[in-house]
Amino acid sequence: MSVNYYHDKLQEIKNLKNKDYLGMNYQGYNIVLKLIDESSETISLITKWRKLYRNNFGSDFDIDENKTKKWIKNDVLLNADKIVFMIYVNKQKIGIISTSDFDKQTNSAILDTMMKDPEFELPGLMTTIEKIYLKWMFDELKLSKIRGFLFSDNEKMMKIHTKCGWKLIEVAPIEQVKTEEGTKWKIITSKKSERQIERYYNLIELTRNDLMKNFNDIEYRILCD
Ligand SMILES: CC(C)(COP(=O)(O)OP(=O)(O)OC[C@H]1O[C@@H](n2cnc3c(N)ncnc32)[C@H](O)[C@@H]1OP(=O)(O)O)[C@@H](O)C(=O)NCCC(=O)NCCS
Repeated sequence: MSVNYYHDKLQEIKNLKNKDYLGMNYQGYNIVLKLIDESSETISLITKWRKLYRNNFGSDFDIDENKTKKWIKNDVLLNADKIVFMIYVNKQKIGIISTSDFDKQTNSAILDTMMKDPEFELPGLMTTIEKIYLKWMFDELKLSKIRGFLFSDNEKMMKIHTKCGWKLIEVAPIEQVKTEEGTKWKIITSKKSERQIERYYNLIELTRNDLMKNFNDIEYRILCD
């Protein structure tokens, strides 16, 4: 599959701007995925969630609304390699899910940040959203494989990933290094004793076959194309 297919598809969706993109019904609730927007409500929510879950992210810095605003514009909307969707439940913004890092050689991309407002509870919703989103990545982005990584101590997320069919490929030791803005976790390449290692990344992969084993015929629709 050509590099351009992945990037062209993401751009096509970005051109749709604020149109509802993907929809499904979950236990009587109307679920919609739509391209992330630059509104002050969205900036405020993402900043709040990013602070709450800061320990689960690969990088850390002084999180504020100004940085979130720049992130949405430069790192997402103007970045051909990445897309972020806002998740709406009955029109309320409750979380995000995203894709990035296309790799031409393996025709794969990363399931990137996924997070939910902890104040919003609807059991099983995020597992279902992850499943339909991954199916969408395989079918609409025509990927052969999906890659992912997360801290090995993020057990809640790993449990959900396992239900979606992901396979653990490697547990990689990581170290925190300084960056211009703050800190970042990086895979350790030099030899270090076990004692010196603070945390690990789970490197995970998913095939369409493994996703479909436990998909349970969930239905969703692309609302505009
Ligand atoms: C991980 C996260 C998305 C999970 O959200 P959630 O709302 O708890 O997700 P779900 O409800 O789908 O699944 C979790 C629970 O619901 C249960 N569940 C799943 N399907 C269900 C169903 N149909 N009915 C009832 N319960 C169900 C699961 O068993 C699970 O319970 P368990 O944790 O006891 O096993 C959320 O906690 C989050 O945003 N965490 C931070 C994410 C993060 O780390 N992001 C940064 C790195 S990307």
